[in-house]
Amino acid sequence: MAGTSGLTKVGIVGSGIMGAGIVEVVATAGFDVIVRARTEEGAAAVVAQVTSRLARSVERGRLEQAEADAVIARITHTSHLGDLAGCDLALETVIEDLEVKRRLVGELDEILDPAAVIATNTSTLAVVELAVATSRPDRVCGLHFFNPATAMPLVEVVSPVTVAESTIQLVERFAADCGKETVRVADRAGFVVNALLFPYLNAAIALAERGVASRVDVDRAMRGGCNFPMGPFELLDLIGLDTTLRILETLHRETGDPSSLPHPELRRLVAAGHLGRKTGRGFLEHGS
Ligand SMILES: NC(=O)c1ccc[n+]([C@@H]2O[C@H](COP(=O)([O-])OP(=O)(O)OC[C@H]3O[C@@H](n4cnc5c(N)ncnc54)[C@H](O)[C@@H]3O)[C@@H](O)[C@H]2O)c1
Repeated sequence: MAGTSGLTKVGIVGSGIMGAGIVEVVATAGFDVIVRARTEEGAAAVVAQVTSRLARSVERGRLEQAEADAVIARITHTSHLGDLAGCDLALETVIEDLEVKRRLVGELDEILDPAAVIATNTSTLAVVELAVATSRPDRVCGLHFFNPATAMPLVEVVSPVTVAESTIQLVERFAADCGKETVRVADRAGFVVNALLFPYLNAAIALAERGVASRVDVDRAMRGGCNFPMGPFELLDLIGLDTTLRILETLHRETGDPSSLPHPELRRLVAAGHLGRKTGRGFLEHGS
């Protein structure tokens, strides 16, 4: 058992940008972690990514080798969802698609102990829709980590109308055990951060497309003029353009606000498979 939450074993489903980061955060906090991807290779790749990030920290003198070894020893990987049976908490981090997530939480519900908590890392989807796909809606909530999960201090704790206060308190203790600060948010598209951030990112695309400044200069302007650590195009490429498109579509569907109507240039890049850092090219070019 690690920390104050009383949780022992945590299952992470999904091996993308967020899954890999969250596995590292949770294992570093002292929990046993099992990561599940759809393929053995995908699951093993998460462990390889965490291993190489920790090796860099050891090289830079930020971490002892023994600590890195201990973190890696706490991580197991699988392609079988059934292997998550012994987890007290399962956090899904798969593609931002309601049907995929609904199916997944339904399967988790059948596998996990009835007392276990199921959480979602969704950015915008209605958590209540996932809660009611299980037999334990009082133990389903959102735990919205930010990208990169290893560096960003915040986790939004999302309370669907179905959740029990005891579940929220438990996941807040878990997030604190992971070294994160939490903000409780209502189950509304975009919660706090993305409801404010994504209309801004969408507006940056429109601004550059109108020729006000190049993408690179828009980024320089927002770094230098607002002291933001990254410009909007750097951030869009870090998030992933496919994920950005899905988030804007959900925000627009729920709010009707034209500021979240995805810019056509975003759609074009996604159609071309230019998804950002994860494919080497998005709004900007990225070296390997
Ligand atoms: N990228 C971000 O900045 C960010 C930040 C916070 C939250 N999120 C949320 O985290 C979740 C994952 O985002 P990501 O950026 O890690 O995405 P990603 O594209 O890096 O990874 C998506 C994962 O989903 C899996 N997947 C794809 N299709 C699937 C299917 N049909 N069935 C099961 N699994 C499938 C992929 O194999 C991969 O493991 C999404 O809900 C996203 O909204 C993303």
